[in-house]
Amino acid sequence: MCPRCGREYEIDPYRFRCDKCGELLDAELLLENVHIDLERIKRERWIGVWAFREFLPKVADIVTLREGNTPLLKLLKVNGNAYVKFEGANPTGSFKDRGMTVGVSIAKSIGARYIIVASTGNTAASAAAYAARGGLTCLIVIPRGGIARGKLAQAVLHGAKIVEVSGTFDNALSLVLESLSKIGKRGLVYPLNSINVWRLEGQKTIAYEIFLDVGVPDYVIVPVGNAGNIYAIWKGFEELRRLGLIDHVPKMIGVQAEGASPIAKAWQLGLKEPLFTSSPKTVASAIRIGKPVNWYRAWRAVEKSGGMFITVTDEEILQAQRLLGREGIGVEPASAASLAGYLKLLQEGIIDRKDLCVLIATGHGLKDPDIILNLSYESIQVSSPEELVRIMLSEQQQTDVIVIKR
Ligand code: F0G
Repeated sequence: MCPRCGREYEIDPYRFRCDKCGELLDAELLLENVHIDLERIKRERWIGVWAFREFLPKVADIVTLREGNTPLLKLLKVNGNAYVKFEGANPTGSFKDRGMTVGVSIAKSIGARYIIVASTGNTAASAAAYAARGGLTCLIVIPRGGIARGKLAQAVLHGAKIVEVSGTFDNALSLVLESLSKIGKRGLVYPLNSINVWRLEGQKTIAYEIFLDVGVPDYVIVPVGNAGNIYAIWKGFEELRRLGLIDHVPKMIGVQAEGASPIAKAWQLGLKEPLFTSSPKTVASAIRIGKPVNWYRAWRAVEKSGGMFITVTDEEILQAQRLLGREGIGVEPASAASLAGYLKLLQEGIIDRKDLCVLIATGHGLKDPDIILNLSYESIQVSSPEELVRIMLSEQQQTDVIVIKR
């Protein structure tokens, strides 16, 4: 169904936009056809995303790496009532796997041979792995020099065909969309960017898992790039509400990096549409996006939930990344934007320390090792056991990293 003009369409794996107004379509869960057996789902939580199969599209062939069922970890060192949903624990280290299992299963079930994605890195890594698992060829289109090394290495490891373009993610995505419109042939290449609503259907399972763990939080805080995920999580809660399992949804907070904040800036200025930019800049490469295609979905989700969009600086992001690291939770910079946003809203008194908050940590710290090492790598050299003993017993404050070399 079109969220803007209300036009309805039959289910079609290739239809993403409304013919009438051009908006990206929603997938409607027909509630009258859905019977939810919560006890069965709880028993089968370990399966991950497909434990929630009643909420997902029916596919003939499931391509899975056992994604989902990620830990919800209480923040110990921050004075508040916050939990981190650690999506880095997914098979390729990001929340993208939840959507990719659904998207690639559809691609396989309809007999596609290729999948294609433009990406800031995590979608590429995930698409490459799931395509490999499903026996499909994966084509990824990435901004040259714009994706973290861990993600690129994953795409290489899983055998994706890699195409680089100059410019930003937005250039890569419009190239993919234009080339698809030129092929015009269904059934050969299946696009799996977040314009593909079926992928977002997989991502909405984050909401179901949060609900099973802690019920309905006051706030869910999400880093925003292309703006699909915040919508997907809201939709998950909204479906639980419509099914009568909960009576309200959490306030959704979308966090963008200051230099790449087309939605948050417009929101704060009270505008009705984003301020797109062609030169997004942030240390958090995953969310370095100037023209989020899902902005309308995300805007609606945030508005309906009573939430807001905010910005955080790169410095705040890196500080938050470090804070999480010191709690044993390793995330990439984009993911730390949710903690940076939480701290900011606590400080501004918008969120109370008692409010139950879930921060979505979208991707694993190993994705982007360069950022970490460039910022805080120090080492102490030792050459004898005595020196090592002295360090062991030293009361001195520990440096960032101690590397022992002989
Ligand atoms: N966090 C991480 C680690 C991401 O990789 C992304 C998006 C986001 C947050 C934002 O999610 O786009 O749904 O608002 N990465 C995409 C990619 C764009 O290509 O991997 P969003």
